[in-house]
Amino acid sequence: MKKLNGVPGALELRIREMGLEDLREVFQIGQELFTAEKWPTLYRAWDEYEITELYGRDGEFCLVAETERGRVVAFALGTMMQKPQSAWRYGWLLWLGVSPRYAGRGIGARLVNQLTERFIEHDARMILVDTDEDNTEALEFFATQGFGHAVRHVYISKNLAKHPRYREWQAAKRRAISRDRKRVLMSRVVRGRDAMAKLHVGKGR
Ligand SMILES: CC(C)(COP(=O)(O)OP(=O)(O)OC[C@H]1O[C@@H](n2cnc3c(N)ncnc32)[C@H](O)[C@@H]1OP(=O)(O)O)[C@@H](O)C(=O)NCCC(=O)NCCS
Repeated sequence: MKKLNGVPGALELRIREMGLEDLREVFQIGQELFTAEKWPTLYRAWDEYEITELYGRDGEFCLVAETERGRVVAFALGTMMQKPQSAWRYGWLLWLGVSPRYAGRGIGARLVNQLTERFIEHDARMILVDTDEDNTEALEFFATQGFGHAVRHVYISKNLAKHPRYREWQAAKRRAISRDRKRVLMSRVVRGRDAMAKLHVGKGR
């Protein structure tokens, strides 16, 4: 595995619960990692709403790694799950990301360890993780953390551009936009006329 700039490097890091002020940095690290070219499925699901939602719902399972200088360089976002008929509780690690400059320094492992402990303290019997099937780096990383028993899950998609409702909806949107533009134009014309009228009244005096 590659180490940062070829150097493992000792790093003073603090793992703590994510706060409101961290959401932007966490989002940006994710933007850097989950790109459309590399992981389209992860890219589609990664947005500000996802982070805010998890933070609001399950904040105690959202952790960040912070440097001595207070810079957030990694995150682990999880949630707790329980089915109504089952006594089992599951911890689900939904998102894990380490800023590329800080990869290979044991930060991912520390985040997973701390999140695991939190899940255990909330009576979880199992921890789940999902990622892209081609994300071999992450799969290898998770294997080193004791994860196994992979179950395949397939995402299928349908382009809606040819759906009749899609066309109707888009046409309605275009009509609404052009109506708005006309309304704005008309109000400018009326305001212009009023201004001209005032000007003429002034001249007549
Ligand atoms: C995968 C990821 C979280 C690993 O974090 P990290 O901080 O670099 O990993 P660590 O330094 O803690 O490594 C822990 C172990 O995993 C192994 N490992 C880490 N990255 C690896 C890689 N790219 N390939 C193979 N093994 C890897 C390390 O060798 C180490 O093993 P060791 O304990 O035997 O030395 C990080 O690279 C990342 O953010 N990837 C992109 C985002 C992603 O795919 N997230 C997961 C799905 S949401």
